[in-house]
Amino acid sequence: MPNPTSLPLSRRDAILVAGAAATAATSLGMRGVHADNPSSDMLRIGLIGAGGRGRGALVQTLSVPGSNVKLTAVADAFKGGIDGAMRAVEGMQDKVDCPEDRRFEGLEGYKRVIDACDLVILATPPGFRPFHFDAAVKAGKHIFMEKPVCVDSYGARLVLEAAKQADEKKLKVVVGLQRRYQTNYREALAKVREGMIGDIIGGQVYWNGGGIWYRGRQPDTTEMQFQVNNWYHFNWLSGDHITEQHVHNIDVANWFLDKLPISAYGVGGKQNRVTGQPGEIYDHHAVNFTYPGGARIASQCKQFPGGDNRVDEEFQGTKGVLKLRPGFAQITDLAGNDLWKFSGPNPDPYQVEHDELHAAIRTDTPKNDAYYGITSSFSSVLGRLATYSGKNWDYQQAMELDYRTMPEELTWETTPPVVPNKDGNYPLPMPQNFKLTSVTKAAVS
Ligand SMILES: NC(=O)c1ccc[n+]([C@@H]2O[C@H](COP(=O)([O-])OP(=O)(O)OC[C@H]3O[C@@H](n4cnc5c(N)ncnc54)[C@H](O)[C@@H]3O)[C@@H](O)[C@H]2O)c1
Repeated sequence: MPNPTSLPLSRRDAILVAGAAATAATSLGMRGVHADNPSSDMLRIGLIGAGGRGRGALVQTLSVPGSNVKLTAVADAFKGGIDGAMRAVEGMQDKVDCPEDRRFEGLEGYKRVIDACDLVILATPPGFRPFHFDAAVKAGKHIFMEKPVCVDSYGARLVLEAAKQADEKKLKVVVGLQRRYQTNYREALAKVREGMIGDIIGGQVYWNGGGIWYRGRQPDTTEMQFQVNNWYHFNWLSGDHITEQHVHNIDVANWFLDKLPISAYGVGGKQNRVTGQPGEIYDHHAVNFTYPGGARIASQCKQFPGGDNRVDEEFQGTKGVLKLRPGFAQITDLAGNDLWKFSGPNPDPYQVEHDELHAAIRTDTPKNDAYYGITSSFSSVLGRLATYSGKNWDYQQAMELDYRTMPEELTWETTPPVVPNKDGNYPLPMPQNFKLTSVTKAAVS
């Protein structure tokens, strides 16, 4: 049976990943949960990026049944994030040891948090993820990181190199693509692997919704502060919503097909975002992904009001059809007769992610979701390149591009990669003048 959790970037990486997993598996056994104090079973928890998801993940990791845990350090770009995280754990004081001098405000605080924990939660805007993941792996920490794990080619390669180092150090890594931790998806996958729908030859994946928040400009803030706070609307920080949000559904396609797309071709645009809320992302993308063997996946995502909203996945096989969404899974034959329908308990996948991560740490069982985190995140980047340029993009060629969007030096005074024009608007990517702009030609080191 193919291993759905280790989709490779290339043949060389596939061999490397398989080798690392085999080595780790032969040396199972209990060990200390952290390098600094191997005799303690207490997991010190650090949080980097203390917004909505970071706080949720924090409460979930502190709630893992039977796990000896303490929050020891928090970092956020802004003080409001730190205060919010401390409020979120007010009812869990026996699991909190995070005095003022371990609460770090600003863009550099992540380093201090990594120093002060054994398991770090990475929940900043996605653009920072590769750099924070790399730092956490170098420091030898276990990691829960939110999706997407990269927004460009440089970031994808950086996460890949760090993922290999994480294997060498026997670190455990979970990525917040929570459908992989949801029972209805797992049971549906088992049916597909058993052959119930035959070979998948096509599918559709959707995240069509109504809109997203916008955080307006505050007085006395720099352009950099505005963009980091309002990160969703800037590609170098969010990767656009095809990457930030629709990655979930694209990940399901890669997972169920157990393949990576060869190429992507698509269209997109911005027709209906709220006026007076400038940014540089599209509000809709439609992409066709082509997979080895000829399967095609049609992907759609929108963020504007009106029309039918849907967030789900559907796959057509040679023998049947699978329909999926969180909490629902159904297989019919090609004539529409029911073959199987999911029923039974469906525990909260956001909690299961942390339960399984702690279990892997405590039993020293190999666990590294970063590989599929990269391939699925990069598939969504490929889709964005296709819609911005109107061109067909090859996965492997795109992966090798000198394409980095994160500035090399970052302070609140740094000029961001995009700046508004005199009317306050940002340039929108357009196929007729699309140009790949990278801040550096540097290779991943
Ligand atoms: N798996 C899911 O279902 C799911 C749901 C929501 C969000 N997410 C992901 O979680 C991440 C965070 O999303 P969110 O909704 O919590 O956003 P958010 O804006 O609520 O929180 C992000 C926080 O990061 C802080 N931040 C920004 N740059 C930072 C830096 N360099 N260092 C430290 N802190 C920094 C911000 O100040 C903010 O408090 C994103 O990657 C998002 O895609 C995943």
